[in-house]
Amino acid sequence: MSPSAAIRLGVNLDHVATIRQARGTTYPDLMEAVRTAEAHGADGITMHLREDRRHIQDHDMYDARRVVTTTLNMEMAATEEMIYTAEAVGPDFCCLVPERREELTTEGGLDVIGQRSRLADAVARLTAAGIRVSLFVEPDPRVLEVSAEIGAPMVELHTGAYANLSGGAAEAELTRIRDAARIAAELGLQVNAGHGLHYENVGPIAAIPQIAELNIGHAIVARAIFVGLGRAVREMKDRMRAAREAA
Ligand code: PXP
Repeated sequence: MSPSAAIRLGVNLDHVATIRQARGTTYPDLMEAVRTAEAHGADGITMHLREDRRHIQDHDMYDARRVVTTTLNMEMAATEEMIYTAEAVGPDFCCLVPERREELTTEGGLDVIGQRSRLADAVARLTAAGIRVSLFVEPDPRVLEVSAEIGAPMVELHTGAYANLSGGAAEAELTRIRDAARIAAELGLQVNAGHGLHYENVGPIAAIPQIAELNIGHAIVARAIFVGLGRAVREMKDRMRAAREAA
């Protein structure tokens, strides 16, 4: 496989639903966003069904299951309610994330070591339902080892700290992510990454050879205000591809 073919873009459409929920309208049509993103290069569609339902609603997940022609990734907390919903919806992938009601967005990776048995149970149940599970984790070698031990086939490396830092601190975090990607691949895990990535900072992450997929939402929906969703998706994909090819 050529390097450019090896990196996928999962487009997170939560914030299309954020605009809809802000007014309780039926527009913007989330399924039109799904079709547009897929027509312009999205390799997958990601939606986070949060406990507080602040953006994606339950019916969106079921609608997306009917409409998505690439792959549907359901982000969710590893709670009984969400596992039950995922079993009913049947997404291709589930990305398990930590969730706190008051947070603006997902903060920090899963406590895979402290919550080992609860997460192992969630991985087993979702796997039994035919869903491939990803764990959203910090780029920490011990966390990656435990992720593999509890049977997760994939991890998503948290790039939020990298995105929030600058200068030497961002470089140091990038080194942690590169090392983590190598270690995760050696453990046999599929390596994805995401959170806080935008058009200017995506290059060094996309260039990491072990990374199979990036999940990106906020920056794409924000760019879509000016250029439309299709072009916003294409531009992100082009940046990822260029960085991977130059690596
Ligand atoms: N990956 C995970 C696990 C997330 O929780 C989020 C945010 O919902 C993203 C990726 C996308 O982050 P952003 O919207 O900052 O691109």
